Amino acid sequence: MAVQDESRHIEAELYDRLSKVIDPELGRSITDLGMIAAITSCPVEGGGAFDVTIDVELTVKGCPLSQTITNQINGAVRSYPDAELHPHIELSTMSSDKLSTLVAELKAERRQNPFTKPGTKTRIFAIASGKGGVGKSSVTANLAATFAALGYDTAAIDADIYGFSLPRLFGVHTQPTNLNGMLMPVTAWGVKMISIGMFAGSERAILWRGPRLQRSLEQFLADVWWGSPDVLLLDLAPGTGDMAISVAQALPNAELVVVTTPQPSASEVAVRSGLVALQVPMTVRGVVENMSYYDHEGERLSIFGEGGGERVSEQLTDALGVPVPLLAQLPLQTDIREIGESGRPAVLNDLGALDSTPLAGEFKALAGRLLQR
Ligand SMILES: Nc1ncnc2c1ncn2[C@@H]1O[C@H](COP(=O)(O)OP(=O)(O)O)[C@@H](O)[C@H]1O
Ligand SMILES: [Mg+2]
Repeated sequence: MAVQDESRHIEAELYDRLSKVIDPELGRSITDLGMIAAITSCPVEGGGAFDVTIDVELTVKGCPLSQTITNQINGAVRSYPDAELHPHIELSTMSSDKLSTLVAELKAERRQNPFTKPGTKTRIFAIASGKGGVGKSSVTANLAATFAALGYDTAAIDADIYGFSLPRLFGVHTQPTNLNGMLMPVTAWGVKMISIGMFAGSERAILWRGPRLQRSLEQFLADVWWGSPDVLLLDLAPGTGDMAISVAQALPNAELVVVTTPQPSASEVAVRSGLVALQVPMTVRGVVENMSYYDHEGERLSIFGEGGGERVSEQLTDALGVPVPLLAQLPLQTDIREIGESGRPAVLNDLGALDSTPLAGEFKALAGRLLQR
């Protein structure tokens, strides 16, 4: 092949290879996103190698993930089998026109709520409880971290807009990247998430808090680029009505998971939070009993009484006429609070892998049970 032809061949081949590099935030190929503005290949004098210049246009200036993208592009160029290539990556930012067009395209495509499209693969679990303080957020956070550690593409929405806690439980201190009004969720411990707590005091926080809960959930779904996760978890505000109804309307395929503690005062309101399924079509997937026992040197101490989870399961099964199983009984574990407050879900070790503790084992089993149909 003539050197000129070989250069063109390399450019075309590289374009093809770069189409397999996925933008980590948008989950799309960088060539589809128009991020590869040019590829030019020139033979190096007398060596048989080629200098390859790749002009990359990032979507936002100072994109925090530009290093990841650069590394992947370098990797794709260096692994080219038929010639020795020397990559030179020139980074710049897209023009505002080009970015608006791109965002408009992405939004148009997503205008139908991505989670209600027929054939959507996302399993949605809305974590509810009658009252606060039963560990709903801790369960959501640890369950999300478990799914992510097991390799599922996992997203979480902190729908408890007044009592948000996911940012703290995941140690998130950053704000989501804003692409012309479309927000990229923040990823922490492998989970893509959004919370009003990431916008403390900003205009968006006011917008999302809005006059009605219904609107804020819709906006979480519409304003944020979710891609198509395997699992979406919602940490609902405590209560027995409004929130779950909003979920049923915005996400008809969501499955409700009711969290309770063992004592009667908690289980009674927990039952009511599940009875929402009598008003709106919604699957109640099951019950999680939290703080069930304390393992004291192998002996299970029932600190908060017994039977709450079982009672909620039986009463909902009776009332709804479908099985609402007790899916898990989670131990009282001081770690949950201590580690949770340090910004790492307690089921993970400090490397972000699933720990080998009984607690992590319980969450893994719970995750598996939830995914069974
Ligand atoms: N299994 C558990 N063992 C020990 N502490 C727990 C457990 N679950 C939750 N907690 C603690 O109880 C408190 C309330 O939990 P949280 O998840 O914020 O509840 P909710 O979201 O229902 O209001 C937190 O301090 C949390 O760390
Ligand atoms: Mg909470």
